[in-house]
Amino acid sequence: MATKIVSFWGKGGTGKTTIAAATAVGLEEAGYKVFVFSSDPTPTLCLALGVGNCVDRLTRVGRIEALELSEETVLRLWRERFGDEVYEVISAFLPVGREIIDYVAGAPGISDQFLMYYVYEVWRRGDYDYIVWDTPAAGGGLRMLRIEYELYQHMTEAAKLYLRVKGVLEKLRRKTTTRTPDKLIEEWKELAKAILDMLASNNHLLHITTTADLLGLAVTRKLYSEFNMHNIRVRRVIANMVLERGQSCLASIEELAREQQTVLEELEKQFGEIMCSVPLLEWRPRGRQALLKLWELLEKNGCVVF
Ligand SMILES: Nc1ncnc2c1ncn2[C@@H]1O[C@H](COP(=O)(O)OP(=O)(O)O)[C@@H](O)[C@H]1O
Ligand SMILES: [Mg+2]
Repeated sequence: MATKIVSFWGKGGTGKTTIAAATAVGLEEAGYKVFVFSSDPTPTLCLALGVGNCVDRLTRVGRIEALELSEETVLRLWRERFGDEVYEVISAFLPVGREIIDYVAGAPGISDQFLMYYVYEVWRRGDYDYIVWDTPAAGGGLRMLRIEYELYQHMTEAAKLYLRVKGVLEKLRRKTTTRTPDKLIEEWKELAKAILDMLASNNHLLHITTTADLLGLAVTRKLYSEFNMHNIRVRRVIANMVLERGQSCLASIEELAREQQTVLEELEKQFGEIMCSVPLLEWRPRGRQALLKLWELLEKNGCVVF
């Protein structure tokens, strides 16, 4: 079977990582070969899986292979894969040295784009039945998606531009390589197209997670319309952490309260004087009146320095 990608997108704190971890475990249990990957810059995937951290280390959790990639590693991998090509293309147009590679590596969006490429490469190799993908929180996720489209468009423009000046540039070229810039630009374009096709393919099972509150709803709508625009089918919208009436609601709050006690002590220990707390409110903190009420509370508890 072709490798499937089960991805989770959504606002921070809506359960992407937790549900991705659960999905990985469930699919492993069902006998599938699973790679679970977090491209969140502040990943907690392996924490959720109960193995601490697996930043930059492919880690086995049972038969699951798990990986979180740090920004530095992403940029290093990008350099290894694309550095020479970037140099070849740019130096065909401009008199630049290899430091141009570092300059481009620092450009916004490079690491986002590489994460897409990384998933694409794993997908293409086909070593796994499932890639479970814990994406960056909403903003980062959308940026990652947009960069891929922009790249595709830029490459189309770059190819046109190159064709227009090709004759002149080829006379000026100082070194001869087997790969010509127009060939590389064409390859990059095809790669961007392949990544977009992967996202829009039937093997990509995209999930949006949300909390059942108005801010979560707004982010979900935004994400949904963006995916729609790019012909990427959303398979599920998961409303997570829904409070149910009656006993189960109380029990879950009590359980949460127990975890909170432990964590509060840790926060107190480590952050002492700069730490404060705000209770879970019995009213929704929205609108001027409610926000003023919250402000009073924030001031009383010394939570905002101004
Ligand atoms: N259904 C749930 N019930 C209780 N706690 C949950 C549930 N889903 C997630 N959590 C908890 O909520 C917090 C945020 O979840 P997380 O998976 O880290 O979200 P995200 O990856 O979207 O930022 C974590 O502490 C997680 O353990
Ligand atoms: Mg997360």
